[in-house]
Amino acid sequence: MTNTLTNDQLTQWDHDHFFHPSTHLAQFARREMGNRIIQGAKGVHITDREGRSSLDAFAGLYCVNVGYGRTEIADAIAAQAQDLAYYHSYVGHGTEASITLSKMIADRAPDGLNHVYYGMSGSDANETNIKLVWYYNNILGRPQKKKIISRWRGYHGSGLVTGSLTGLELFHKKFDLPLSQVIHTEAPYYYRRADRDMDEAAFSADCAAKLEALIKAEGPDTIAAFIGEPVLGTGGIVPPPAGYWEAIQAVLKKYDILLIADEVVTGFGRLGTMMGSDHYGLKPDLITIAKGLTSAYAPLSGSIVSDKMWEVLERGTDEFGPIGHGWTYSAHPICAAAGVANLKLLDDQQLVSNAGEVGAYLNKAMTEALGDHPNVGEIRGEGMLCAVELVKDRDDRVFLDAADKTAPRIVAAMLERGVIARAMPQGDIIGFAPPFCLTRDQADEVVAVTKAAVDAVL
Ligand SMILES: Cc1ncc(COP(=O)(O)O)c(C=O)c1O
Repeated sequence: MTNTLTNDQLTQWDHDHFFHPSTHLAQFARREMGNRIIQGAKGVHITDREGRSSLDAFAGLYCVNVGYGRTEIADAIAAQAQDLAYYHSYVGHGTEASITLSKMIADRAPDGLNHVYYGMSGSDANETNIKLVWYYNNILGRPQKKKIISRWRGYHGSGLVTGSLTGLELFHKKFDLPLSQVIHTEAPYYYRRADRDMDEAAFSADCAAKLEALIKAEGPDTIAAFIGEPVLGTGGIVPPPAGYWEAIQAVLKKYDILLIADEVVTGFGRLGTMMGSDHYGLKPDLITIAKGLTSAYAPLSGSIVSDKMWEVLERGTDEFGPIGHGWTYSAHPICAAAGVANLKLLDDQQLVSNAGEVGAYLNKAMTEALGDHPNVGEIRGEGMLCAVELVKDRDDRVFLDAADKTAPRIVAAMLERGVIARAMPQGDIIGFAPPFCLTRDQADEVVAVTKAAVDAVL
């Protein structure tokens, strides 16, 4: 939009009328925290209305994977809007964009996952997944097999079921969540393990043993599915310990429990491989996709359904009629066109391999710069994901007091120096998830600014 309004006018309306998500409403209203009005963006940089530019080392909300200002996607969106801005996808309707995108997704998904249901957000795609799991078990004649196991520190969205699946206190508190059908198990968070004598393999085995104990205590016939992100994201950017997914999948198989891989963050390249499931050898029954599907140029998500489940869904509609699940905007043509252009761009510019290479460089450079700092407990990452976990005492692994807001203060100090990182919501963890087009020089800048901010605050 052109600047037809003054910043003061916009700021006034912002405070009077705009209900911002994930925001301290009272502080915002009292103007104890500032607003930022974003004006434009190009590559890895965003610019605000004050003319300040920032290197966005979190790609928005780890979603602008191809970087900002890609005209290939903007043009595809514009062309689709001109030709056909909307038609629904109920009762067999589609568009060239939605059908082509489905084929492109199936080609990139692990073997045996070939059907895509579309939504608008990661949250609604996970809502769809839970409904599909329940429908599936009803068709199979086991109506009691309905509970879903998620992990503490998992993030799966903010809806009623998905907010329940999310294993972060903030998302439950005062919302009457989690719902009773959802139960949580141990987070695969090796650094924070209770028994510090355990090695990674023993810890993974322990996570699997705890899962099995939970399944037995609840009754295996009542557990329908397990949901997990290949790498814990919002819960702290935590790659799984060695052997974790093998051990977990063995337990799920034993008790005939479906696996939902939530690849909203890891899907389409963030780990340096097309899908996180391939990266860690997951064999999911359902995969959740969103963010990187369109690099957030348009809101689009999806549930990729395995052939095993598809066969039962088809059978269900033969018995009970059309599947009673639909969104008005499912497979929206404009969003689908953005998806097609985005996936082409990933291929044409080899952005997935760049994510792997520059991501490894970023992690190494971060470790060299900050690995010995007395307040840095761990630096971890995978692909174009990196986290710096801060502690009070690294030898005794004493965590910082949340009330001191150390990570948010460091992230604010980084912003003053021109780089955006994210203070993860639980624990003093600085998260990085830059666009895949990040260069080594830009990675160096991110590391230098992080070090300067850590030194300034601590
Ligand atoms: C792994 C994961 N699943 C689901 C979601 C929810 O996606 P959305 O915010 O689009 O609803 C997110 C969002 O960050 C996510 O990281």
